[in-house]
Amino acid sequence: MSQPIIDIPSPQQEALDILCRGIASAAGPVALACSFSVEDVVIINLLREAAPKTRIFAIDTGRLNEETYEVAEILSMRYGIRFDWHFPERAAVEKLEREKGLFSFRESLENRHACCRIRKVEPLQRALAGLSGWITGLRREQSVTRNGLKTIEIDKTNGGILKINPLLDWSEAQVWDYANARRLPVNRLHQQDYPSIGCAPCTRAIQPGEDSRAGRWWWENPEHKECGLHRR
Ligand code: ADX
Ligand code: SF4
Repeated sequence: MSQPIIDIPSPQQEALDILCRGIASAAGPVALACSFSVEDVVIINLLREAAPKTRIFAIDTGRLNEETYEVAEILSMRYGIRFDWHFPERAAVEKLEREKGLFSFRESLENRHACCRIRKVEPLQRALAGLSGWITGLRREQSVTRNGLKTIEIDKTNGGILKINPLLDWSEAQVWDYANARRLPVNRLHQQDYPSIGCAPCTRAIQPGEDSRAGRWWWENPEHKECGLHRR
């Protein structure tokens, strides 16, 4: 007897479905938060199919790698994207650097959080103002801190807007299969053993056998490895 044919959606179909459902259920505008990681480049490509008018914002912390700016510019030219860049408040950065120096984030968790608050979290809050939802490239397997996320969830930390995580259940290999098959432009640091890329002074390459976020704030314990963008 022949087996019934079960139509299993591909990861790509599932991600498109999450994006479409998430955007449709938001009461107003939704934007992608882009760090120019391979995950975010995959989402940019999916959005071209699912919702091409979706705005894309990026936080320029002032400490990003040159390679990150390069891929941002390549994406901008190739796809005609005008990224909504957000910067930290000038006065807050000046105060931080004058009082604590340029590498205070290495001295204590408190100092690291203070820097992330000024350079990432406050600009994020400005970027999210007026939005009913935001899309991220978060994946569950990236970190113990990301286990409990949902593909579409209410972001209580940011005023109850929707947070849409279309690649949440993708593996790293699935992300790369998608990107390579389409020859998407990616951050050159990914090819130099940087699976996860944040600010330059807080990110290093990983060694064989290390987990993908081992190079982020490498001097800290895994349970502390969030900068506040995804605080729950
Ligand atoms: S972080 O919190 O540890 O820095 P991570 O680098 O894993 O985050 O990126 C997860 C997601 O957060 C990205 O896919 C992107 O949606 C968002 N994100 C991270 N950094 C930025 C940034 N500088 N600008 C905009 N979005 C960002
Ligand atoms: Fe500051 Fe490092 Fe956080 Fe970037 S990742 S905002 S440099 S502490």
